[in-house]
Amino acid sequence: MSDTASGQVSGRPDAPRTAREMLGLARTFLERKGLGDARREADLLVASALGLDRLGLYMRLDQPLAGGEVDRARDLLVRRGRREPTAYIVGHREFFCRDFLVGPGVLVPRPETELIIDRAREVFRASDGETASSQHTRRVLDIGTGSGCLAATLALELEGSVEVHAIDISEDALGWAAKNAAALGAGVTFHHGDGLEVAVALAEEGGPFDLVVSNPPYVEPEEREDLSPEVREHEPALALYAPAGDPDYWIRSLADLRPRILARGGTMLIELGHLQGRRADALTGDTGQVHMDLAEIPRVLELR
Ligand SMILES: C[S@@+](CC[C@H](N)C(=O)[O-])C[C@H]1O[C@@H](n2cnc3c(N)ncnc32)[C@H](O)[C@@H]1O
Repeated sequence: MSDTASGQVSGRPDAPRTAREMLGLARTFLERKGLGDARREADLLVASALGLDRLGLYMRLDQPLAGGEVDRARDLLVRRGRREPTAYIVGHREFFCRDFLVGPGVLVPRPETELIIDRAREVFRASDGETASSQHTRRVLDIGTGSGCLAATLALELEGSVEVHAIDISEDALGWAAKNAAALGAGVTFHHGDGLEVAVALAEEGGPFDLVVSNPPYVEPEEREDLSPEVREHEPALALYAPAGDPDYWIRSLADLRPRILARGGTMLIELGHLQGRRADALTGDTGQVHMDLAEIPRVLELR
């Protein structure tokens, strides 16, 4: 916050007296900084400072604020003003209508990744109609699980009996993922190591997978300067960048791995970067199907 704005919320006579007044200040501050959706972010940050969710905040808009609450809200706004991601500041982000705990060391779940969940549910429903596959336990694998948003959501959303495994090379990410799965009551077994190597070992030990999902790192290192400071300065490089000079490394590697890890009739769903969709056909021949996200960007590659 600028000196002026911070002065306004630090005990001077014109300090905000209610959550409504605090919200007004917060919105003005975020708008002036040009930060995202100022209205939504102000709600999230002020609610977090008061230890409430957004609904709780709206229910006490006109109650008086305590001095500590004003200071807490001010601190969170100062952090946001320094371009820390809102999800890290408030400590969580919604994915498929559930809250996932996040912080430094793990990628913040993105709304476009929900398309993988939608598609996975459709694939399972369709295969239920064709075969008796719903009667056996279906094996699911998430490669590069991050916060565990895909693995935990699949464990909770897929119909029938499922056994969900998830891999990440980052121990920090796995710490967040395990916390999220436990908090949500999602049955997921986590594995540490390289996603491709561990996937093969898991398939050899426990049998191939009916569904493999992955949102792999796909930003080209040369695109670093195009990223927002929130992403570039705060989210883990391991989660963002494809190997230099080889932006399609993960699509190619996962596609090549199919005969070793995918069950007969199984499906692989891979999230694509915004430029990768155009190349996906060339990489996988005519065996793939590309699904568009809500912004009409080719977003998920489906392989069989
Ligand atoms: C783009 S993030 C996706 C996280 C999460 N699935 C999501 O959709 O929000 C990619 C994840 O892959 C992990 N990762 C990167 N290289 C890996 C590797 N060689 N093996 C396994 N995981 C890897 C990163 O640590 C990161 O958590």
